Amino acid sequence: MRKTETEFLKEFEELLQKEMKEACCRAEQAMTYSVLTPGKRLRPLLIWSTCDDLNVPVELVWHPALAVELFHTASLIHDDLPQIDDSPLRRGKPSCHVVFGNDTAILAGDGLMLKAFCVLSDSPAEPKKKEMLFRYFSRSTYRVLVGEALDVEYTGASPNLGEVLRMYAEKTGALFSFCFATGPILAGEFGLAEKFSKLGEAFGIWFQVQDDIKDACGDESKLGKPVGRDVALGKPTVVKILGLEQSKTFADKLLKSVVHQLEGLKLISVRRLLEDLVKR
Ligand code: IPE
Ligand code: IPE
Ligand code: MG
Ligand code: MG
Ligand code: MG
Repeated sequence: MRKTETEFLKEFEELLQKEMKEACCRAEQAMTYSVLTPGKRLRPLLIWSTCDDLNVPVELVWHPALAVELFHTASLIHDDLPQIDDSPLRRGKPSCHVVFGNDTAILAGDGLMLKAFCVLSDSPAEPKKKEMLFRYFSRSTYRVLVGEALDVEYTGASPNLGEVLRMYAEKTGALFSFCFATGPILAGEFGLAEKFSKLGEAFGIWFQVQDDIKDACGDESKLGKPVGRDVALGKPTVVKILGLEQSKTFADKLLKSVVHQLEGLKLISVRRLLEDLVKR
């Protein structure tokens, strides 16, 4: 029987806790602190919904779902460091480096990235599927690094819209492309993986534009992270280039195109998840 979203999330949190249960050094305590401070868990939920739409058994969903959340949290720890976005608040709590210091936070980020690969290596998927999961995961996670590197390079500079969108496709789109590709890979529909991956990337670009809009006019207590940082730091964003109103129009168009493609692919659960996300 299919799990509800609440059931999936409950079990997911239990598995995360199990994964993070022993800490033998401060870096591991920091890893646990950041991972168990709950975020939206959007990437695991997207893996679960894509797999649900393609009738993938839930036993195959846990490992990629855990791996993606561990990696994502790592990228946030590094992103918040004083040398990158210098952000003191994450998921409604002091950022990892504020609590544990920069040195430990760097190690905690590294540790979570590596742990993500350890977890994925325990996947019970059959060899061909597992190999493909690894290929997509390694490529996507590397692309996040490239995207963050471009973000750093562009800070204080004046990249054009195309360059900023390319950077979004890497730093944010890449991990979502993995989430979307997981369904067809685990369903054995290997020929569909690239198409789903591209759709995930488009979703990720929309998600990043939305994040930038919220940074410009959102509410810190609702978001659990500071607002107004992008302007203060001279961050390269779509909002900086297009302005707030045009960015909203741009995001709406992106969203329509993503929804249209989801409908074409009959990804009902994913579409529902996206609708819930938009309402928040
Ligand atoms: C934040 O991602 C980083 C971006 C890609 C904009 P989320 O908004 O998914 O963060 P959490 O996981 O809910 O904290
Ligand atoms: C996305 O960009 C960060 C990563 C991909 C790690 P942001 O810097 O805008 O994310 P937030 O706003 O700090 O969550
Ligand atoms: Mg950043
Ligand atoms: Mg940031
Ligand atoms: Mg942001």
